[in-house]
Amino acid sequence: MTEKLWGGRFSEKTDRGVEIFTSSIDVDKRLYAYDIEGSIAHCSMLAKQSIITEEDASLIIQGLGEIKREIERGKFRFDEGLEDIHMHIESRLLQVAGKVAQKLHTARSRNDQVVLDVRMYLRDETAKIIKNLVNLKKGILLFARDNIDTILPGYTHLQRAQPVLLAHHMIAYYEMFLRDANRFRDCLKRINIMPLGSGALAGTTFQIDRDYTAKLLGFKEVSKNSIDSVSDRDFIIEFLSAASICMMHFSRLSEELILWSTAEFGFIELPDSFATGSSIMPQKKNPDVPELIRGKTGRVFGNLMAILSIMKSLPLAYNRDMQEDKEPLFDTVDILKACIDICSSMIPRLKINKEAMHKAATKGFLNATDLADYLVTAGMPFRQAHTCTGKAVSYALDKDKELHELTLKELKSFSTLIEKDIFNILSIEQVISRRKSFGGTAKENVMAAIQEAEKSLNVLEQDDK
Ligand code: ARG
Repeated sequence: MTEKLWGGRFSEKTDRGVEIFTSSIDVDKRLYAYDIEGSIAHCSMLAKQSIITEEDASLIIQGLGEIKREIERGKFRFDEGLEDIHMHIESRLLQVAGKVAQKLHTARSRNDQVVLDVRMYLRDETAKIIKNLVNLKKGILLFARDNIDTILPGYTHLQRAQPVLLAHHMIAYYEMFLRDANRFRDCLKRINIMPLGSGALAGTTFQIDRDYTAKLLGFKEVSKNSIDSVSDRDFIIEFLSAASICMMHFSRLSEELILWSTAEFGFIELPDSFATGSSIMPQKKNPDVPELIRGKTGRVFGNLMAILSIMKSLPLAYNRDMQEDKEPLFDTVDILKACIDICSSMIPRLKINKEAMHKAATKGFLNATDLADYLVTAGMPFRQAHTCTGKAVSYALDKDKELHELTLKELKSFSTLIEKDIFNILSIEQVISRRKSFGGTAKENVMAAIQEAEKSLNVLEQDDK
């Protein structure tokens, strides 16, 4: 049993089981650096406002620095009896700096302290995530440039639909990750708010200067309502929502890599360094990395559900339930960062089977829409052209041929509007290059999209600095 800093009104020792049950130190110790930084700023503010003396403040700050070094060197003793990282540091400060340590918690509560720590942590991690997403997006753009002439079948309902450039397909992911990064940028605005000085829930009787503390800690804003400050966790929920959406994108990409690397598709081969073998079947090369990304996505969705459920019925203001916010948050940050990193290095190293993709894109009537469009240009209403082309497809299927393998005479039997130039229109290269509508897959569009994306990435990178 450990002596409690809050033990004054208690006559019985805390049950050991309760100590273990209520402890969060194993999880929240990762906040130590933020806790110390926050305490130093709080202490400096207390001194500036003459709530404590400058001498006391410097002794406290010195002690906090010592504790930080102890933790970093692995010399700090953690003990479940001390509940959480805040209590650990304050208790140790009493040993390191002496009685003066008892003044640190003036005009502060663990309720505003913990949310400050989490906000500082999440501000750093979100900024890292945004930066890493930029690297991933750069990798995707490089990959797109390298594969600008690779054609693959585009799918709807996982049925071959129309041919597209592989670069175009991958830039779809670029767009998703760009929106993800912007979502995180937006989250950051609401994370970067300073709650300290809200006390337990109602503010404090001391003449504190919250703006000063905020300035020391690099916060743009100070929270406006003390009750909201200590009870709000929606900045975490918002982050987890953005993370869930981002993971959903990773999971879709992973699913495609898994499918494409099957013998059935044969479109890509994962680099050996990103695949694993089977313990029994010597021939196997398994796509474990994308599979795990897909699996971890489920965990991240679960984390979002966990926090939403924890918060949903809590009366204002702080409730201990909220201690449960950290595990899902930390887990999500770890997973997301790992997925961004691993995809950033894996994508440029994917081995593309250009021939297999091309072959697949030329089989399965992927140019049928182009025949219909041709008839429309020649004067036929689209619905009629659709039916007419459908009949041609059915005829070609019977003959085991593609549309472009039919003779002009055969094609003309479906419409006399069809002329010799149809064969050029039906070639896969034309099918791609004629899709020049803004956002379409024509090579010149895709090149322009890559250039535009590269430019805007550079601007965003400057803005994030
Ligand atoms: N470990 C606690 C948490 O993470 C810190 C706040 C404790 N506050 C309290 N009133 N017991 O939420």
